[in-house]
Amino acid sequence: MVLSAVRRARQAGRVAAAVGRYGVLPLRLAREAITGWGAIQRTWELTSLLGLARRQKPGVVMEIGTHRGGTLAALARVARPDAFLLSLDMHTWPMGPEPSWPADEARIRAAMLPAQRMVALRMDSHQAETKAAVESALAGRAVDFLFIDGDHTYGGVCRDWEMYVPLVRSGGLVAFHDIHYNPEDPVSQVDRFWRETRSRFRHWEFIDQDFPGGQGMGIGVLQIP
Ligand SMILES: C[S@@+](CC[C@H](N)C(=O)[O-])C[C@H]1O[C@@H](n2cnc3c(N)ncnc32)[C@H](O)[C@@H]1O
Repeated sequence: MVLSAVRRARQAGRVAAAVGRYGVLPLRLAREAITGWGAIQRTWELTSLLGLARRQKPGVVMEIGTHRGGTLAALARVARPDAFLLSLDMHTWPMGPEPSWPADEARIRAAMLPAQRMVALRMDSHQAETKAAVESALAGRAVDFLFIDGDHTYGGVCRDWEMYVPLVRSGGLVAFHDIHYNPEDPVSQVDRFWRETRSRFRHWEFIDQDFPGGQGMGIGVLQIP
């Protein structure tokens, strides 16, 4: 009881600090994404990610693992008003096809600013034809902000890194979800990839360790030199 009150107070303190650093919009968007769109995120972690993105003002945003669209719709709101968005998702998670996807795609488009454009590819990120489709959609543009939240296996996240990070511009940001170890989900090994990779780059870590359960999730962001 006392412990959970202390945890809640710490979380509130972190959120307040993020609002002080990034303004109130990232918090508002993070709450909307989680409660209104079913984004699988924690408030302070997503607020901090959106705060960093807001500072960068990306013109090209790519997301691997869009799910219902909450994180991409929120990223669109901190991107440039004429940003290009690229969504890549098989939409077969957690089991079988994602029935809500066509409606979710329409909802993302409705949330975008009038001059923003989006290409949504319903493909497996690990296939060579998907990389070709991504390059064709980008039409020579470099990615400013890449969010990797697709296949969480070690091999899967390594492959997304190898295939798509070359498309990110120098100075661009690459974010990863689930960088925090979760013993209850041994298949998810983004934490291992993150530990091996982060020290080679300027990076930020947002891990709300006081969340009840205290395990898993967390967002890591690194900057391409
Ligand atoms: C954890 S969800 C993404 C959550 C979303 N970013 C959010 O916060 O609401 C992971 C998504 O990745 C997709 N996915 C998994 N492996 C993939 C792959 N190899 N290629 C494309 N999408 C993949 C799944 O279909 C699923 O929608």
